[in-house]
Amino acid sequence: MKGIFCVGAIIWLIYILLLDNIMVRYDRFILNYQGNKYLETKKYFKDLDISEYDIIVESFAGIFGFSRALFEMNPDYDGVFWINDIDPDLIAFYKQLKKSMKKTIKAVETKMAGVWKGNNKDFSKHLREKGTTIEKLLFRSMNCDTYNYEKGLRKIKNFKAKIPEYKKLFKKLRFKNKDVADLKIPTNKKVLVFYDPPYFDSCNKTYMQKPTTIKGKFIRYPDNTKLYLDVLNLFQNYSFDQIMIVNFTCLMHHLFGEYEDRRYDRQYNNQAYMKRKTAQHIVYSKISN
Ligand SMILES: C[S@@+](CC[C@H](N)C(=O)[O-])C[C@H]1O[C@@H](n2cnc3c(N)ncnc32)[C@H](O)[C@@H]1O
Repeated sequence: MKGIFCVGAIIWLIYILLLDNIMVRYDRFILNYQGNKYLETKKYFKDLDISEYDIIVESFAGIFGFSRALFEMNPDYDGVFWINDIDPDLIAFYKQLKKSMKKTIKAVETKMAGVWKGNNKDFSKHLREKGTTIEKLLFRSMNCDTYNYEKGLRKIKNFKAKIPEYKKLFKKLRFKNKDVADLKIPTNKKVLVFYDPPYFDSCNKTYMQKPTTIKGKFIRYPDNTKLYLDVLNLFQNYSFDQIMIVNFTCLMHHLFGEYEDRRYDRQYNNQAYMKRKTAQHIVYSKISN
């Protein structure tokens, strides 16, 4: 009897630990993107003291995992977050959400219910051909070009359950739609700028950009190098505190090496090979004390 009780207690303990782990790991934001920095921020920046900053700038915001995680870990933070992205659809959507969360979500739900014809194959085809950035990030199935209606609805449901919390966060957000090089950051305030640019050697300059197919054979990758030179210019010439996370490449390390803070491995699902892919990431930082 005592033995059964002990086994039961151990199973219960494992269950609680697993549940806790799953809950911490799960990001319930309405949009999703595999490269977002929400979980990494919770893991690697849990000791970052942000209380001194008037403004935290997430200059390549995407689904602003850095700012969301920092606010969750520092709910009494007094300053504001600048959420900047070059993608006008993303920023327009966030502005609408801030104005009216329920109405904005309802509008997407209604539009997509009109598109849904009972199977994800047609749904995916529709989104691939006509979907907006928002619809694609909401209904994206995996990290490839398939979309799943039911999965998107679950995301909406999870987000709705957290609306009171998101309202608090959105009050703190100030949206900007600029190229990182044109973003005017105040020099008379205490500012932390976070950069998570598209992968240096990647084809996705923006979330939805696809390489161009030439005569059905070749693909042309957009040149992301200017982004990194712009960030390097900011790192070298501006006094505000700055952090960048980027995939390791020798060239980047040649340029930013003096700012190395730490390295870690990040795993991705690689759809093409049905395997997990690991990429080494580097944190470069310039923080004054
Ligand atoms: C890797 S994602 C950022 C992910 C983000 N840290 C998160 O947690 O979701 C890169 C983002 O940079 C944006 N972007 C690309 N070029 C930009 C530029 N020149 N200025 C500002 N944003 C840019 C893209 O639209 C994309 O949303």
